[in-house]
Amino acid sequence: MSQFGAPSESHTMELADGSTIPLLGFGVWQIPNGPECVQAVQAALDVGYRHIDTAQAYGNEESVGEALRRSGVPREEVFITTKFLPSQEDAAREAAHSLGRLGLDYVDLYLVHWPQGGATRAWPGMEEAHRLGYARSIGVSNFDVTELETLMGVAALRPSVDQVQLSPFHYRRTLVNAAREQDLVVEAYSPLGTGRHLSDETVRRIASQIGRTPAQVLLRWCIQHGFVVLPKSTHQDRIQENARIFDFNLSPADMSELDALDQTGGTHRAQERKWW
Ligand code: A2P
Repeated sequence: MSQFGAPSESHTMELADGSTIPLLGFGVWQIPNGPECVQAVQAALDVGYRHIDTAQAYGNEESVGEALRRSGVPREEVFITTKFLPSQEDAAREAAHSLGRLGLDYVDLYLVHWPQGGATRAWPGMEEAHRLGYARSIGVSNFDVTELETLMGVAALRPSVDQVQLSPFHYRRTLVNAAREQDLVVEAYSPLGTGRHLSDETVRRIASQIGRTPAQVLLRWCIQHGFVVLPKSTHQDRIQENARIFDFNLSPADMSELDALDQTGGTHRAQERKWW
């Protein structure tokens, strides 16, 4: 498929390990396993997404695999991420279980979902998952600056990615800069604030000035900052709308105005409140 402004092969980034990751991914957090998830992922693949982001904790890996098979899109054309649930013991063993649920023989990216038990606790299992061929790339999620530094101090195979909650309202500049200094690609989850940021006045005004939607403005902000972005929707029209973010630019003035919405004070933290 090729639609004006939809993702294409050029809308990718290189990870430090040499792999290529599409800048736009489809996030499936909070979509229950079953027909709704299968349909949403199929809709995303139909409109050109080539990157799906799931996790053991989401409970919907089976539906992601099912949608991929039904879509007819060749496996190697889709970048699939899943995440290790860190309350479990062994990341390599859990990767094998995830692959069973997905019906795949590898994932493109495998992340430690959060640093439960400390920044390095899960890492030997993550490296083993890579060594066994279960995961082409490995990385982390919800790691703050100190946790990244601690992990970098011991990792034989360094993480390629830190996936964190990012939006103009959660810019986390110190964390973003530290991750980049370590050659990590930064991924933005909840880029729409799980929907909350769509009604913000500044976002709406910029959107109407440039003839775009609030969702497109928020997603484009991520792209122009060089973040991989992972919006979620279960509606086909929104899934399509969220993919049309490669055919316009936010001006430097718009970007500055959005940057100024940050409510974290440019934090080094990955989370305002830890749930683990
Ligand atoms: P729905 O799934 O019912 O379409 P985030 O990506 O930050 O987690 O935000 C996801 C939330 O935003 C979901 O509630 C989703 O609703 C909603 N959403 C996603 N895309 C759009 C859009 N383009 N317009 C309006 N709401 C959207």
